[in-house]
Amino acid sequence: MSSQRLGVLAIYLGNSRLEELSYFQRLSKEGNKIGVQVEVFSPVDVESGNTVRSLTYDHGLRKWIRRRTTMPPVIYDRCRYKAAANYRMLKAFRNRHSKLIFLSRPLANKWAMHQILSESESIRPYLPATVRFSTVQNLVKTLKRHKLIYAKPKNGTGGRGILRIEQLDSDLYLLQGRNEQRTIIAPYKATEKQLMVKLHALKLSSDYVVQQGIRVTLKDGRVHDYRLLIQKNGRGEWEVTGCAGRIGPHRSITSNLHGGGSAVSQTKLLSNRFSSSSKIEAIKKEMNSFAHTLAEFLENKFGKLVELGLDIAIDPSGHVWLLEVNPKPSREVFHKIGESSTYQKAVSRPLEYAMWMLNQSSKNAEERKAERPES
Ligand SMILES: Nc1ncnc2c1ncn2[C@@H]1O[C@H](COP(=O)(O)OP(=O)(O)O)[C@@H](O)[C@H]1O
Ligand SMILES: [Mg+2]
Repeated sequence: MSSQRLGVLAIYLGNSRLEELSYFQRLSKEGNKIGVQVEVFSPVDVESGNTVRSLTYDHGLRKWIRRRTTMPPVIYDRCRYKAAANYRMLKAFRNRHSKLIFLSRPLANKWAMHQILSESESIRPYLPATVRFSTVQNLVKTLKRHKLIYAKPKNGTGGRGILRIEQLDSDLYLLQGRNEQRTIIAPYKATEKQLMVKLHALKLSSDYVVQQGIRVTLKDGRVHDYRLLIQKNGRGEWEVTGCAGRIGPHRSITSNLHGGGSAVSQTKLLSNRFSSSSKIEAIKKEMNSFAHTLAEFLENKFGKLVELGLDIAIDPSGHVWLLEVNPKPSREVFHKIGESSTYQKAVSRPLEYAMWMLNQSSKNAEERKAERPES
Protein backbone atom coordinates (compact mmCIF):
# COMPACT_ATOMS: atom_id res chain seq x y z
CA MET A 1 0.00 0.00 0.00
CA SER A 2 1.34 3.42 -0.96
CA SER A 3 2.09 5.65 1.98
CA GLN A 4 2.93 8.93 0.25
CA ARG A 5 0.98 10.91 -2.33
CA LEU A 6 2.20 12.96 -5.27
CA GLY A 7 -0.18 15.27 -7.10
CA VAL A 8 0.49 15.68 -10.81
CA LEU A 9 -0.99 18.77 -12.43
CA ALA A 10 -2.01 18.44 -16.07
CA ILE A 11 -4.23 20.16 -18.60
CA TYR A 12 -7.19 18.77 -20.50
CA LEU A 13 -6.73 18.58 -24.22
CA GLY A 14 -9.77 19.56 -26.33
CA ASN A 15 -11.47 16.16 -26.02
CA SER A 16 -11.43 16.10 -22.19
CA ARG A 17 -8.44 13.74 -22.21
CA LEU A 18 -5.51 14.77 -20.05
CA GLU A 19 -2.20 15.33 -21.79
CA GLU A 20 0.75 12.96 -21.21
CA LEU A 21 -1.36 10.15 -19.75
CA SER A 22 1.10 7.50 -20.88
CA TYR A 23 3.91 9.22 -18.98
CA PHE A 24 1.71 9.50 -15.91
CA GLN A 25 0.87 5.80 -16.16
CA ARG A 26 4.56 4.94 -16.10
CA LEU A 27 5.08 7.42 -13.26
CA SER A 28 2.32 5.70 -11.38
CA LYS A 29 3.90 2.28 -11.94
CA GLU A 30 7.31 3.45 -10.72
CA GLY A 31 5.59 5.20 -7.81
CA ASN A 32 3.94 1.95 -6.73
CA LYS A 33 7.36 0.33 -6.44
CA ILE A 34 8.63 2.93 -3.98
CA GLY A 35 5.42 3.60 -2.08
CA VAL A 36 4.20 6.76 -3.82
CA GLN A 37 0.66 7.11 -5.10
CA VAL A 38 0.40 9.31 -8.19
CA GLU A 39 -2.79 11.40 -8.36
CA VAL A 40 -3.37 13.32 -11.58
CA PHE A 41 -5.66 16.31 -11.81
CA SER A 42 -6.17 19.65 -13.46
CA PRO A 43 -6.97 22.90 -11.59
CA VAL A 44 -10.55 22.54 -12.88
CA ASP A 45 -10.85 19.30 -10.88
CA VAL A 46 -10.34 21.13 -7.58
CA GLU A 47 -13.65 21.37 -5.77
CA SER A 48 -14.43 23.80 -3.00
CA GLY A 49 -12.14 23.65 0.00
CA ASN A 50 -9.47 21.03 -0.16
CA THR A 51 -11.17 18.36 -2.26
CA VAL A 52 -9.88 17.20 -5.63
CA ARG A 53 -11.41 14.86 -8.19
CA SER A 54 -8.18 13.15 -9.18
CA LEU A 55 -7.22 10.19 -11.33
CA THR A 56 -5.23 7.25 -10.00
CA TYR A 57 -4.11 4.39 -12.19
CA ASP A 58 -5.44 0.99 -11.22
CA HIS A 59 -2.78 -1.45 -12.37
CA GLY A 60 -5.04 -4.45 -11.88
CA LEU A 61 -7.91 -3.04 -13.93
CA ARG A 62 -5.45 -1.24 -16.24
CA LYS A 63 -7.37 1.98 -16.23
CA TRP A 64 -7.55 5.39 -14.65
CA ILE A 65 -10.07 5.69 -11.85
CA ARG A 66 -11.48 9.02 -10.74
CA ARG A 67 -11.88 9.55 -7.00
CA ARG A 68 -12.48 12.38 -4.55
CA THR A 69 -9.40 12.96 -2.44
CA THR A 70 -7.89 15.64 -0.26
CA MET A 71 -5.26 17.86 -1.87
CA PRO A 72 -1.93 15.95 -2.11
CA PRO A 73 0.93 17.64 -0.22
CA VAL A 74 3.44 17.73 -3.11
CA ILE A 75 2.73 18.94 -6.64
CA TYR A 76 4.55 18.00 -9.85
CA ASP A 77 3.36 20.55 -12.40
CA ARG A 78 3.34 19.11 -15.92
CA CYS A 79 0.99 21.65 -17.53
CA ARG A 80 2.11 22.89 -20.90
CA TYR A 81 0.34 26.22 -21.07
CA LYS A 82 -0.21 26.60 -24.82
CA ALA A 83 -3.05 29.08 -24.33
CA ALA A 84 -2.84 32.13 -22.07
CA ALA A 85 -5.99 30.98 -20.27
CA ASN A 86 -4.15 27.86 -19.06
CA TYR A 87 -1.30 29.96 -17.78
CA ARG A 88 -3.71 32.13 -15.77
CA MET A 89 -5.46 29.06 -14.41
CA LEU A 90 -2.15 27.60 -13.23
CA LYS A 91 -1.04 30.84 -11.68
CA ALA A 92 -4.32 31.11 -9.77
CA PHE A 93 -3.87 27.53 -8.53
CA ARG A 94 -0.35 28.26 -7.30
CA ASN A 95 -1.49 31.40 -5.52
CA ARG A 96 -4.44 29.73 -3.87
CA HIS A 97 -2.38 26.73 -2.75
CA SER A 98 0.92 28.42 -2.00
CA LYS A 99 1.44 26.26 1.10
CA LEU A 100 1.83 23.10 -0.98
CA ILE A 101 5.27 21.84 -1.94
CA PHE A 102 5.80 22.55 -5.64
CA LEU A 103 8.60 20.54 -7.26
CA SER A 104 9.26 23.31 -9.80
CA ARG A 105 8.27 26.82 -10.76
CA PRO A 106 7.50 28.51 -14.06
CA LEU A 107 10.60 29.85 -15.81
CA ALA A 108 10.77 32.52 -18.51
CA ASN A 109 10.15 32.80 -22.26
CA LYS A 110 13.04 32.50 -24.72
CA TRP A 111 13.85 36.21 -24.69
CA ALA A 112 13.60 36.77 -20.94
CA MET A 113 15.57 33.56 -20.41
CA HIS A 114 18.35 34.80 -22.69
CA GLN A 115 18.59 38.06 -20.77
CA ILE A 116 18.67 36.30 -17.40
CA LEU A 117 21.30 33.78 -18.50
CA SER A 118 23.46 36.53 -20.02
CA GLU A 119 23.99 37.87 -16.51
CA SER A 120 26.18 34.89 -15.71
CA GLU A 121 29.77 35.07 -16.89
CA SER A 122 30.14 31.31 -16.79
CA ILE A 123 26.99 30.76 -18.89
CA ARG A 124 27.45 33.56 -21.44
CA PRO A 125 30.02 31.70 -23.62
CA TYR A 126 27.40 28.99 -24.22
CA LEU A 127 24.69 31.38 -25.49
CA PRO A 128 24.34 32.05 -29.22
CA ALA A 129 24.10 35.81 -29.85
CA THR A 130 20.39 36.64 -29.49
CA VAL A 131 18.42 39.84 -30.02
CA ARG A 132 14.76 40.68 -30.00
CA PHE A 133 13.23 41.22 -33.45
CA SER A 134 12.87 44.94 -34.14
CA THR A 135 12.88 45.61 -37.90
CA VAL A 136 13.55 43.66 -41.08
CA GLN A 137 16.57 45.93 -41.69
CA ASN A 138 18.07 45.00 -38.33
CA LEU A 139 17.39 41.34 -38.90
CA VAL A 140 19.29 41.50 -42.19
CA LYS A 141 22.19 43.26 -40.40
CA THR A 142 22.33 40.42 -37.87
CA LEU A 143 22.16 37.94 -40.73
CA LYS A 144 25.10 39.56 -42.51
CA ARG A 145 27.11 39.46 -39.30
CA HIS A 146 26.54 35.77 -38.56
CA LYS A 147 25.81 34.46 -42.09
CA LEU A 148 23.22 32.17 -40.53
CA ILE A 149 20.34 33.04 -38.20
CA TYR A 150 17.30 31.43 -36.63
CA ALA A 151 14.20 33.54 -35.90
CA LYS A 152 11.85 31.98 -33.37
CA PRO A 153 8.76 33.02 -31.41
CA LYS A 154 9.70 33.67 -27.77
CA ASN A 155 6.79 31.52 -26.54
CA GLY A 156 6.99 28.89 -29.28
CA THR A 157 7.30 25.15 -28.67
CA GLY A 158 7.98 22.05 -30.72
CA GLY A 159 9.64 23.92 -33.59
CA ARG A 160 6.54 25.97 -34.48
CA GLY A 161 7.02 29.22 -36.40
CA ILE A 162 10.82 28.89 -36.64
CA LEU A 163 12.74 30.38 -39.60
CA ARG A 164 16.31 29.73 -40.70
CA ILE A 165 17.99 32.22 -43.00
CA GLU A 166 21.42 31.68 -44.47
CA GLN A 167 23.57 34.00 -46.55
CA LEU A 168 24.86 31.80 -49.37
CA ASP A 169 26.67 34.48 -51.38
CA SER A 170 27.12 38.25 -51.42
CA ASP A 171 23.56 38.75 -52.71
CA LEU A 172 22.03 35.32 -52.33
CA TYR A 173 20.03 34.12 -49.33
CA LEU A 174 18.12 30.97 -48.41
CA LEU A 175 14.98 31.14 -46.25
CA GLN A 176 13.56 27.94 -44.79
CA GLY A 177 11.30 27.11 -41.89
CA ARG A 178 8.05 25.95 -40.43
CA ASN A 179 4.81 27.85 -39.97
CA GLU A 180 2.77 28.13 -36.76
CA GLN A 181 1.11 24.78 -37.51
CA ARG A 182 4.62 23.31 -37.82
CA THR A 183 4.22 22.58 -41.55
CA ILE A 184 7.49 22.91 -43.45
CA ILE A 185 7.36 25.98 -45.73
CA ALA A 186 8.85 25.85 -49.22
CA PRO A 187 12.54 26.87 -49.23
CA TYR A 188 13.02 30.31 -50.81
CA LYS A 189 16.24 31.43 -52.52
CA ALA A 190 16.38 35.17 -52.96
CA THR A 191 18.41 38.34 -53.36
CA GLU A 192 18.57 40.72 -50.41
CA LYS A 193 15.79 42.83 -51.88
CA GLN A 194 13.50 39.84 -52.47
CA LEU A 195 14.28 38.51 -49.00
CA MET A 196 13.30 41.80 -47.40
CA VAL A 197 9.96 41.83 -49.25
CA LYS A 198 9.31 38.30 -48.07
CA LEU A 199 10.27 39.13 -44.47
CA HIS A 200 7.96 42.16 -44.45
CA ALA A 201 5.12 39.92 -45.65
CA LEU A 202 5.82 37.47 -42.79
CA LYS A 203 5.01 40.27 -40.33
CA LEU A 204 7.40 39.16 -37.60
CA SER A 205 6.85 41.00 -34.31
CA SER A 206 8.89 41.72 -31.20
CA ASP A 207 7.54 38.39 -29.97
CA TYR A 208 10.33 36.90 -32.08
CA VAL A 209 13.98 36.48 -31.15
CA VAL A 210 16.71 36.48 -33.77
CA GLN A 211 19.53 34.13 -32.92
CA GLN A 212 22.93 33.32 -34.32
CA GLY A 213 22.49 30.02 -36.15
CA ILE A 214 24.76 27.15 -35.18
CA ARG A 215 26.03 25.00 -38.08
CA VAL A 216 24.43 21.65 -37.36
CA THR A 217 23.83 20.26 -40.85
CA LEU A 218 25.07 16.68 -41.20
CA LYS A 219 26.62 15.31 -44.41
CA ASP A 220 23.23 14.09 -45.64
CA GLY A 221 21.71 17.57 -45.25
CA ARG A 222 19.70 16.90 -42.11
CA VAL A 223 20.08 19.06 -38.99
CA HIS A 224 20.80 17.67 -35.52
CA ASP A 225 21.09 18.65 -31.89
CA TYR A 226 21.04 17.08 -28.42
CA ARG A 227 18.51 16.84 -25.61
CA LEU A 228 20.09 16.62 -22.18
CA LEU A 229 18.00 15.83 -19.11
CA ILE A 230 19.25 17.04 -15.73
CA GLN A 231 17.17 16.14 -12.66
CA LYS A 232 17.18 16.23 -8.90
CA ASN A 233 17.80 12.85 -7.34
CA GLY A 234 16.51 11.31 -4.09
CA ARG A 235 19.16 13.20 -2.12
CA GLY A 236 18.00 16.56 -3.46
CA GLU A 237 21.08 16.96 -5.69
CA TRP A 238 21.28 17.70 -9.40
CA GLU A 239 22.36 14.80 -11.59
CA VAL A 240 22.51 14.46 -15.39
CA THR A 241 20.17 11.57 -16.16
CA GLY A 242 21.06 11.27 -19.81
CA CYS A 243 21.60 12.94 -23.15
CA ALA A 244 20.37 11.86 -26.57
CA GLY A 245 20.87 13.09 -30.11
CA ARG A 246 18.02 14.17 -32.37
CA ILE A 247 18.11 14.33 -36.15
CA GLY A 248 15.49 16.35 -38.02
CA PRO A 249 13.70 14.82 -41.01
CA HIS A 250 14.89 15.73 -44.52
CA ARG A 251 14.07 19.35 -45.48
CA SER A 252 13.47 20.30 -41.84
CA ILE A 253 15.46 23.01 -40.05
CA THR A 254 14.42 21.73 -36.62
CA SER A 255 15.14 18.43 -34.92
CA ASN A 256 12.17 18.26 -32.50
CA LEU A 257 10.78 14.72 -32.24
CA HIS A 258 7.22 16.03 -32.57
CA GLY A 259 8.23 17.62 -35.85
CA GLY A 260 9.29 14.25 -37.23
CA GLY A 261 12.80 14.14 -35.81
CA SER A 262 14.41 10.83 -34.91
CA ALA A 263 16.39 9.97 -31.80
CA VAL A 264 19.90 8.50 -31.75
CA SER A 265 22.44 7.87 -29.02
CA GLN A 266 24.62 10.80 -28.02
CA THR A 267 27.85 8.88 -28.60
CA LYS A 268 26.74 7.69 -32.02
CA LEU A 269 25.85 11.19 -33.15
CA LEU A 270 29.04 12.72 -31.74
CA SER A 271 31.08 10.00 -33.51
CA ASN A 272 29.39 10.98 -36.75
CA ARG A 273 31.09 14.38 -36.49
CA PHE A 274 34.23 13.85 -34.46
CA SER A 275 36.68 11.01 -34.92
CA SER A 276 38.80 11.44 -31.79
CA SER A 277 37.38 9.63 -28.80
CA SER A 278 39.12 11.99 -26.39
CA LYS A 279 37.43 14.95 -28.13
CA ILE A 280 34.06 13.20 -27.81
CA GLU A 281 34.65 12.53 -24.13
CA ALA A 282 35.68 16.16 -23.58
CA ILE A 283 32.50 17.44 -25.27
CA LYS A 284 30.31 15.12 -23.19
CA LYS A 285 32.04 16.26 -20.02
CA GLU A 286 31.55 19.89 -20.94
CA MET A 287 27.85 19.35 -21.70
CA ASN A 288 27.39 17.79 -18.27
CA SER A 289 29.29 20.39 -16.32
CA PHE A 290 27.51 23.18 -18.20
CA ALA A 291 24.15 21.56 -17.34
CA HIS A 292 25.08 21.65 -13.63
CA THR A 293 26.16 25.30 -13.81
CA LEU A 294 22.94 26.22 -15.58
CA ALA A 295 20.64 24.26 -13.24
CA GLU A 296 22.24 25.80 -10.16
CA PHE A 297 22.07 29.29 -11.64
CA LEU A 298 18.39 28.96 -12.59
CA GLU A 299 17.51 27.54 -9.21
CA ASN A 300 19.12 30.56 -7.57
CA LYS A 301 17.10 32.86 -9.80
CA PHE A 302 13.72 31.15 -9.76
CA GLY A 303 13.60 28.92 -6.68
CA LYS A 304 13.56 25.15 -6.34
CA LEU A 305 13.37 23.10 -9.55
CA VAL A 306 13.04 19.37 -10.21
CA GLU A 307 14.31 18.94 -13.78
CA LEU A 308 15.38 20.73 -16.94
CA GLY A 309 15.60 19.58 -20.55
CA LEU A 310 18.35 21.39 -22.42
CA ASP A 311 18.44 21.67 -26.21
CA ILE A 312 22.14 21.79 -27.04
CA ALA A 313 23.93 22.27 -30.36
CA ILE A 314 27.56 21.32 -30.96
CA ASP A 315 29.20 23.23 -33.80
CA PRO A 316 31.82 21.69 -36.14
CA SER A 317 34.66 22.85 -33.85
CA GLY A 318 33.09 21.10 -30.86
CA HIS A 319 31.82 24.26 -29.13
CA VAL A 320 28.79 23.65 -26.89
CA TRP A 321 25.82 26.00 -27.45
CA LEU A 322 22.58 26.26 -25.49
CA LEU A 323 19.57 26.60 -27.80
CA GLU A 324 16.74 26.33 -25.32
CA VAL A 325 15.83 25.48 -21.72
CA ASN A 326 12.70 23.35 -21.27
CA PRO A 327 11.26 23.45 -17.75
CA LYS A 328 8.80 20.60 -18.39
CA PRO A 329 10.80 18.23 -20.55
CA SER A 330 9.52 14.97 -21.97
CA ARG A 331 11.73 11.91 -21.61
CA GLU A 332 10.54 9.83 -24.54
CA VAL A 333 13.83 10.37 -26.34
CA PHE A 334 15.56 7.82 -24.06
CA HIS A 335 12.85 5.26 -24.64
CA LYS A 336 13.15 5.84 -28.40
CA ILE A 337 16.89 5.13 -28.45
CA GLY A 338 16.43 2.00 -26.36
CA GLU A 339 18.21 3.34 -23.25
CA SER A 340 15.62 1.79 -20.99
CA SER A 341 17.57 2.23 -17.76
CA THR A 342 18.03 5.96 -18.49
CA TYR A 343 14.31 6.20 -19.25
CA GLN A 344 13.50 4.40 -16.02
CA LYS A 345 15.70 6.80 -14.05
CA ALA A 346 14.13 9.76 -15.86
CA VAL A 347 10.73 8.63 -14.59
CA SER A 348 11.68 7.62 -11.07
CA ARG A 349 13.86 10.60 -10.14
CA PRO A 350 11.00 13.13 -9.80
CA LEU A 351 9.27 10.62 -7.48
CA GLU A 352 12.37 10.13 -5.36
CA TYR A 353 12.95 13.86 -5.23
CA ALA A 354 9.32 14.45 -4.18
CA MET A 355 9.85 12.03 -1.30
CA TRP A 356 13.03 13.82 -0.32
CA MET A 357 11.18 17.15 -0.36
CA LEU A 358 8.42 15.72 1.87
CA ASN A 359 10.97 14.38 4.33
CA GLN A 360 12.77 17.69 4.40
CA SER A 361 9.60 19.62 5.11
CA SER A 362 8.52 17.29 7.92
CA LYS A 363 12.03 17.48 9.40
CA ASN A 364 11.87 21.27 9.25
CA ALA A 365 8.46 21.25 10.90
CA GLU A 366 9.79 19.05 13.71
CA GLU A 367 12.78 21.30 14.19
CA ARG A 368 10.52 24.33 14.44
CA LYS A 369 8.41 22.50 17.01
CA ALA A 370 11.49 21.59 19.04
CA GLU A 371 12.75 25.16 18.99
CA ARG A 372 9.49 26.54 20.31
CA PRO A 373 9.86 27.41 24.02
CA GLU A 374 7.75 25.41 26.47
CA SER A 375 4.61 27.20 27.44
N1 LIG B 1 20.36 29.00 -33.11
C1 LIG B 1 20.09 27.81 -33.65
N2 LIG B 1 21.02 27.20 -34.44
C2 LIG B 1 20.76 25.97 -34.98
N3 LIG B 1 19.60 25.32 -34.82
C3 LIG B 1 18.63 25.88 -34.06
C4 LIG B 1 18.83 27.16 -33.44
N4 LIG B 1 17.72 27.46 -32.75
C5 LIG B 1 16.85 26.44 -32.93
N5 LIG B 1 17.39 25.48 -33.73
C6 LIG B 1 16.72 24.23 -34.15
O1 LIG B 1 15.33 24.40 -33.98
C7 LIG B 1 14.83 23.52 -32.95
C8 LIG B 1 13.76 24.21 -32.14
O2 LIG B 1 14.28 25.38 -31.52
P1 LIG B 1 14.03 25.69 -29.98
O3 LIG B 1 14.74 26.96 -29.68
O4 LIG B 1 14.37 24.52 -29.18
O5 LIG B 1 12.47 26.00 -29.93
P2 LIG B 1 11.19 25.08 -29.60
O6 LIG B 1 10.67 25.67 -28.34
O7 LIG B 1 10.27 25.26 -30.73
O8 LIG B 1 11.68 23.68 -29.39
C9 LIG B 1 16.07 23.13 -32.15
O9 LIG B 1 15.88 21.90 -31.48
C10 LIG B 1 17.11 23.05 -33.24
O10 LIG B 1 16.96 21.86 -33.99
MG1 LIG C 1 13.26 23.04 -28.18
